[in-house]
Amino acid sequence: MAARHTPPDARMTSPGPRDRIYATARDNVEPFRFDEAVVRVFPDMIRRSVPGYATMVEMTGVIAGRYAQPGSNLYDLGCSLGAVTLAMRHQLPHADCTLVAVDNSPAMIAQARTLLAGDGAPVDLRCEDIRDTRFARASVVALNFTLQFIDPADRPALLARIADGMLPGGALVLSEKIRYADAHEQQLNEALHHAFKRAEGYSDLEIAQKRSALERVLVPDTLDEHVARLAAAGFTDITPWFRCFNFASLIARKPQ
Ligand SMILES: C[S@@+](CC[C@H](N)C(=O)[O-])C[C@H]1O[C@@H](n2cnc3c(N)ncnc32)[C@H](O)[C@@H]1O
Repeated sequence: MAARHTPPDARMTSPGPRDRIYATARDNVEPFRFDEAVVRVFPDMIRRSVPGYATMVEMTGVIAGRYAQPGSNLYDLGCSLGAVTLAMRHQLPHADCTLVAVDNSPAMIAQARTLLAGDGAPVDLRCEDIRDTRFARASVVALNFTLQFIDPADRPALLARIADGMLPGGALVLSEKIRYADAHEQQLNEALHHAFKRAEGYSDLEIAQKRSALERVLVPDTLDEHVARLAAAGFTDITPWFRCFNFASLIARKPQ
């Protein structure tokens, strides 16, 4: 069993190659894709784009350590390079748990396979659409910045299938970019997020081009919409435990 309080693998959360993908002006900004170019710079990109990313990853590990049940499965949905998988692996309290990490980007899965090799509990790494994943005996499920990329029409059914596959007392961690229903609050939090990105070294051009690439690809919900959808899917004790500007993470429980 790995030691507790070990931070996630540095390769997942430390900068690596710098993200310069949108640094040069483009005539036509294509919709964002998790391709090889993104995989190369992903740890730097997500750390400099999501305020509080490292905290949310590490605390998802802590939550997993608290709610993992003996002989159960722990899922990391939209695992990218496996930062959350590793955080959960570091905190696993039971040797007979199985880690399942899923992503539908072949480039992400190929790199994750390399990064997750080595010591620690084995990981069942799957290249598939999480809408096709079968959930069973799940004590912990992490959706870290993934639901926002799923067609909004498919979100309720996905959450309901996750809830159905969870053990009583299980925990779902849902981290997302959020939007605010109030126009003033939305503007304020978006401005603060852009200030964060500028402070992290992104230029106004990079911010504008990335934003245009993500339009209609990343569709954020309000916190109230998340809470209502989680409740409709059968979750209880729905608690936002982290928020920074327009990013938030919630925990929700499967009733005992
Ligand atoms: C922002 S990244 C997630 C970051 C990651 N969870 C972390 O904490 O480092 C979103 C990931 O979700 C994956 N993804 C998007 N839609 C998906 C789907 N329908 N099925 C599986 N993976 C999906 C993308 O390929 C991408 O790797």
